Amino acid sequence: MAILKIARMGHPVLLRRAEPVADPTAPEVRRLVADMIETMEDAGGAGLAAPQVHVPLRLFVFRVPAHRATGDLDDVPGGVSVLINPTVELLGDDVRPRWEGCLSIPGMRAAVPRHWRIRYAGVDAEGQPIAREATGFHANVVQHEYDHLDGILYPMRVTDFSTFGFTEELDRVAQAQYAAKVAAETGQGA
Ligand code: NI
Repeated sequence: MAILKIARMGHPVLLRRAEPVADPTAPEVRRLVADMIETMEDAGGAGLAAPQVHVPLRLFVFRVPAHRATGDLDDVPGGVSVLINPTVELLGDDVRPRWEGCLSIPGMRAAVPRHWRIRYAGVDAEGQPIAREATGFHANVVQHEYDHLDGILYPMRVTDFSTFGFTEELDRVAQAQYAAKVAAETGQGA
């Protein structure tokens, strides 16, 4: 196992359309998946797509962390999922702004309009078929990682650029707003 170097926005590998994985059960794919999981966990991310580690193949790994899950039926926390040669179907017209960051764009985030509900399919590293419906963060992370396979980075999906900023600054503003709200509700000075 190894921690891989993550490509940052500006590197052309992030802008190209990735190729299908010819044999999802090949040993080199298994090794890549293991390294990607280790890299994602080391970086504290919730998802990582192969192009982000300079491998232009259609596969990604992701998980739904407890603090991000909305608690919806199809959005429960769980272990790492591996999705090879995925397809994604956007369901309905419920589109909501969701906060997103990306390991290829460190230190920043923005609100990105995403479908609330999707259906996705693919195979795992054992070649077993996967077919699931997802909502909330689960749907969000799959849409984000799938975009990487088509050379799309989340800023390309942003519609309200006033939400785009450095995580540190956005957190500072959010904390100040929260403190003001609590102060207003409790009638105490901030
Ligand atoms: Ni990303």
